[in-house]
Amino acid sequence: MKHLIAPSLLSADFMHLQEEVEMINNSDADWLHLDIMDGVFVPNISFGFPVLEALKPICKKPMDVHLMIVEPQKFVREIAAIGAYMMNVHYEASTHLHRTVAAIKETGMKAAVTLNPHTPVCLLEDIIQDVDMVLLMSVNPGFGGQRFIEHTVEKTVRLKEMITRKGLNTLIEIDGGVNMETGKRLLDAGADVLVAGSFVFKSPDPLQTIRDLKEL
Ligand code: DX5
Ligand code: ZN
Repeated sequence: MKHLIAPSLLSADFMHLQEEVEMINNSDADWLHLDIMDGVFVPNISFGFPVLEALKPICKKPMDVHLMIVEPQKFVREIAAIGAYMMNVHYEASTHLHRTVAAIKETGMKAAVTLNPHTPVCLLEDIIQDVDMVLLMSVNPGFGGQRFIEHTVEKTVRLKEMITRKGLNTLIEIDGGVNMETGKRLLDAGADVLVAGSFVFKSPDPLQTIRDLKEL
């Protein structure tokens, strides 16, 4: 399968959100990655449901919603209502992850579990068969534009090994510090989906940058 590119709206120009989403609509991007933060699970607050509601009628790409919040299970219905394609919940924020994953899938959305940089992939041994995707954080979540944590490459290899050993087709998505150089190494390590925030939105030609990432 050709890899997928999911630009993260967190680095977009919020004064011109409609134009930014329309740029993504007209690009080679596969998904639009949306980062929800609560100021508790991560030391920052981004945007929430009113913004997602506003984007819903104009966004033509599948929405990949990344919840960096405590108790993500409380918002399954709201995320489904905005028409999200994928709902990512953090392993570290989910006491009853199996139940949350089932609730997400019951709505028709795809379910993904997200790991912080310090959380080992071996903890997925008894849940990976139930999720559609694993999202590995390659920065500590909370902010765009941070430096890529090198260890993620090796972690991606180990996750890919687990998926292959179990005969699954779970997708691997990587989020944080993705550019042409880190992106190439992540794809070689087994990644399927690359999230890119600042590398896309702060580039002089975001459409071309997305095309370049797609051609990696
Ligand atoms: C970080 C977010 C990321 C962020 C990535 O907490 O989850 O999606 O937008 O930004 P870059 O690509 O700039 O590291
Ligand atoms: Zn994210």
